[in-house]
This record gives sequence, C-alpha cells and structure tokens, in this order.
Amino acid sequence: MQVALKIWRYDPVKGERALREYEFDAPEWATLLDCLDIVKDRVDGTLAYRKSCRMMICGSCGMRMNGAAVLACKTRMYEIAQAGEVPVISAMGNLPIVKDLVVDMDPFWGKIRAMKPWLDPGYVEPPDKEYVVSQERMDVIHKEALCIMCGCCVSECNSMEADPDFLGPAALAKGMRFVGDARDEVTVERLQEYSNPHGIWDCTRCYFCQERCPKGVDPRDAIAKLGAEAMAHGIDSDMGAKHANWFVTSAKTTGWLRETELVPKTQGVVSAIREMKFAMGLLKHGKVPPPVPPHVAKDVDEARALYDLVKAQERQGAAGIVQGERALERLEFEQGGQADRDPYGEEGSFPRPKPIDTGADGG
Ligand code: SF4
Ligand code: SF4
Ligand code: FES
Repeated sequence: MQVALKIWRYDPVKGERALREYEFDAPEWATLLDCLDIVKDRVDGTLAYRKSCRMMICGSCGMRMNGAAVLACKTRMYEIAQAGEVPVISAMGNLPIVKDLVVDMDPFWGKIRAMKPWLDPGYVEPPDKEYVVSQERMDVIHKEALCIMCGCCVSECNSMEADPDFLGPAALAKGMRFVGDARDEVTVERLQEYSNPHGIWDCTRCYFCQERCPKGVDPRDAIAKLGAEAMAHGIDSDMGAKHANWFVTSAKTTGWLRETELVPKTQGVVSAIREMKFAMGLLKHGKVPPPVPPHVAKDVDEARALYDLVKAQERQGAAGIVQGERALERLEFEQGGQADRDPYGEEGSFPRPKPIDTGADGG
C-alpha cells in the first residue's frame, strides 16, 4: 500500500523545526512504527525515534499522531492509508524534545521516583512463611499494574501543561498501584505525600490521560481512587478534598450543590471575605441565589437514600470509584475525513488489519 506521513523534525544542533513529508510503499500489515522504520531505512537515515519491543510492552514508542498520543507499534496504518490520509507525526507533549520524535524522559522518571515506587511491607526481615494475597485483593490494582510507562497520558495532560511540577497521571497511577497493594504498610504516609501541592488534587479531571492510555490503565480513575482513599483516611486538608467533601454534604442535605457556600467551605472564611466584592457583583446581577433559607430540592430524599446506600455498602475510599467509567465520549483528534475511524476498534483493541493475501487457496 502507498503511505504518506508528515513528520515534525527537530534539529537540536540548529534548534530548527521543520515539517517534512514522506511517501513510500509499505506492507498492508504495517504499523506506524514499521512505517518509520521504512522511512529511516530507505529514505532518511537521520530520522530519530525510540522503539524496542514492537509489541506494546516496552513503552518506548510513544509519539503523537495528528496531535494525539499513540504507541507507534499499536497504530495500524492500513485504514489511514486507504482513506488517503496523511497523518502528522510529532513528538509527545509536555516533555522536552531531544531530536525529531525523541523526548527527554528524565522529568517523567523523576516523578515516578517521587512516588517511591516500591513495596514497603513494614518489616526488614521477611517472615518465615510466604505472604499470600488473595486474587480479589490484587484485582484492586489490576489496572494500575498494567502501566508500561510510555508517557502517552503525560503527553496529553492539561494540568501538567499549566504546571510542569504536577505529578501527573502516570506517577499518580503508580502511586495507586502501591496504595492499593495489601502488602504495603505505609499507605497513610503515601497518601499524605501525594496530597501535597502538585499532587492528587491538582488534576483538572479532563480525562485526556484516560482517553489516550494505550493499556487501559485509566489513570484518571486511579487519581480518583487516591483522592477517595485520602479522604477515607482523614487526609482532607487540601482545598480539593474540602471541595469534594462539600459536594457530598451539600447533595446529602439539600439534594443540590449550594455554590454560595462552596467558597467559604473550600477556601475558608478569610479567603471568602476577600472575594466579597466579586460576590456582591454577582449578587447584583442576579447570579447568586439567596443563601437563606437554603433551597431544598423536591427529590432530596432520593439523594439522601443514595448517600445511605453507599454508606451501607461500605463503599468508602477506592471501592466507591466506578471502574472504567467513560466520562467523555471519545474525543476526535484526527483531521479530515477520519472522523469515523476508531483507533481502539470495537473491543478496546486496534482495528483488525485486512487479511494478507498469501496466494494460498485456503484448502
Ligand atoms: S484527568 Fe487529570 S491527570 Fe489526566 S490528563 Fe486530565 S488533568 Fe492530567
Ligand atoms: S498510564 Fe497508560 S499512558 Fe500513562 S504511562 Fe502508563 S501505560 Fe502509558
Ligand atoms: S516498541 Fe515497545 S511499546 Fe512500541
């Protein structure tokens, strides 16, 4: 098949970026990574990108296609080429570019290290008997353990774009992998540390990490679980935690969100007084409902019953987070006529390539 790619090249010596187009012949089973290999072998040997396993395991080949992070070895080119598309390939976002499609992963690894990504079982000498953990207990961290450290989630993280010190989805998912591990004995210390500024509560819940993760780790869910675990352990002094607590209290008592009280409950009274001028402006324009008497929703009993049900089911902490929730519909990143193409296929995997015609009669 004929394939065309546009690749953002970066020359670190001259400090120059340039968009180059390449056209070449590739087999129908080719992935994006295979295509880059063809360009490097036959067209331009100076093209730089990372790869290793070629089977979605090592996490080396993260890059962007049409502005969205992908694993090059997971991305089939057949349908794209058939549609006559010329995708734009560029380096991952939120990490410094070293050359062409290669990014500096040092900031990424620094944040992973900051999570103390090892088990702390609370003893120095191992006990005499093996410590057996039930499958059910390990299922709690099944998804977080799937991470291959590719950085695709980090590439798309809005919060990290605004604050490069934000720990980010990959590191926080790694944190949940240990917080949720029954063998780890420093859960509270971890949760306290992860709740510091630039941690759990700085996530804007945009869900881009979840949308782009090629391994189904669902890092935003992992962050939600960390937040819920922190609150279940009484670690709730951060404004983000107070904000979440007020949502619960407000919904449980009146059946709706009492926004007028949100600022004092979240930021404290002093900060709320500082915002008075702004609040008065809103009041003047009819944007603030009078706080007294508080409006109580007609179906408040439903909200209260729901609250009681969750309590009765003891779904505190991570157990209360709905796994695999799709908060947003799949976001379209592709340009041109690819709107109908689903890079994940129907059941979470990439589209099947067209069967290769081997010339055999099949008999
Ligand atoms: S949901 Fe949070 S961690 Fe994930 S990309 Fe958005 S801001 Fe970053
Ligand atoms: S969470 Fe997903 S996208 Fe992020 S590093 Fe791990 S495997 Fe890659
Ligand atoms: S080359 Fe290893 S994940 Fe793509």
